[in-house]
Amino acid sequence: MQELKIRGGRLLKGRIHVSGAKNAALPALAACILVDDITVLHNMPDVRDVTSMCQLLESLGASVNRYGDAIHVDTRGMTQWHAPHDLVRKMRASVLVMGPLIARFGRAEVALPGGCTIGNRPIDLHINALRQMGAEPTLIKGEEHIICERLIGARIHFDRPTVTGTENVLMAATAAEGETVLENAAREPEVADLAHLLVAMGAQIEGIGTDTIRVSGGRTLHGADHSIISDRIEAGTYAIAAAMTGGDIVLESIDSLMLTSLWAKMTHAGVSIREKASGDICVSGCPPFAPVHITTAEYPGFPTDLQAQFMAMMCLAKGESVITENIFEDRFKHASELNRMGADIVIRGRNAFVKGIPYLSGAAVTASDLRASASLVIAGLAARDETRVLRIYHLDRGYERIDEKLACLGADIKRVAGEGP
Ligand code: EPU
Repeated sequence: MQELKIRGGRLLKGRIHVSGAKNAALPALAACILVDDITVLHNMPDVRDVTSMCQLLESLGASVNRYGDAIHVDTRGMTQWHAPHDLVRKMRASVLVMGPLIARFGRAEVALPGGCTIGNRPIDLHINALRQMGAEPTLIKGEEHIICERLIGARIHFDRPTVTGTENVLMAATAAEGETVLENAAREPEVADLAHLLVAMGAQIEGIGTDTIRVSGGRTLHGADHSIISDRIEAGTYAIAAAMTGGDIVLESIDSLMLTSLWAKMTHAGVSIREKASGDICVSGCPPFAPVHITTAEYPGFPTDLQAQFMAMMCLAKGESVITENIFEDRFKHASELNRMGADIVIRGRNAFVKGIPYLSGAAVTASDLRASASLVIAGLAARDETRVLRIYHLDRGYERIDEKLACLGADIKRVAGEGP
């Protein structure tokens, strides 16, 4: 298993190109199932989750080819609706094929993704919505078998906004008879990006980017050419890393509006965020930061996917900050690892109390999920001495060549073969 060796204390400086968003790329690939045609997706990040989703599409009979940052998906003649368990197990987002498979074949067999390290993550909201549209789900040996000869438009009110749930239902709704209204829908930019792709495929959708989305279903969709949005979480991760090292970086190709909640909190912490006329975003700052409280929330609130990274930053604040995680029940596993680096973090239920310290010290730390891994890497960049981030498998699921990008900004970071399997 590979690990990252980081010698902390180098300032990050320079320009960084933000990659395409993993969480927009995954539903876009799933949406290709809806058409009996070729779809070309641009700005696709080269990360392991995207590769896994491509393998899943291939197992369903699609032909998938990558040319640089473009992925061509040919779903002509697809006949499979069974998503193999070993591929679904690799990645929770595989559940995204459920809606499009039902739309295209009237049936889907998808293994349940199960819990994961950030907590129990049920898919009841996806299933209940599809049931309202006429689907008949049955759980057989840990697999959701869904039959639906006729999808019928419905008024669906989500008990709470769910990103992949909204995406699944949105895709199914394009094939439903009549109108489907999604209320309390997720408003994340990645959901809107999927809706724009569906429109390019010929779907009729209103209310994109709002919490009430209307889909007039039943149209035959066709292939499309679509460029996915840039990764706001990757951009935010590098912005925090730059500030923690006392650096000064320019983020290219990212829509600043997608990160308003992060910029507000970073500014309170004393970091300078400037948007240039060209659209580039300049980030500069250095510890100690002013302590800032954050509470994660659905978009446009503070993203749970940046909570771990922000916690690392607050370790170097002058005073105590409180970080409240409202989206996932168990997303504080990075706290104990940060404590191994000298941080002073106490977890009580959904709150993390972070007492700032003057500096972090290098240590061997183990990452438990994608964003936790990112927080340990950026803590390592700012820490004294050497940090070894073990089990970087998670990191490669969602960050494109993170070690190379950080090295280009001046970090002393190396990917090496680690011990163990
Ligand atoms: N929920 C339910 N029932 C459901 C669906 C969700 O109770 O049927 C709950 C979840 O347990 C959670 C909350 O609703 O407490 C919100 O979960 P959501 O469904 O929005 O999350 P998701 O769709 O599974 C996506 C991203 C996550 C990101 C969350 C929140 C993708 C592929 N994944 O997950 O990304 O954290 O939205 O923004 O889009 C990551 O990239 O590291 C990552 C975990």
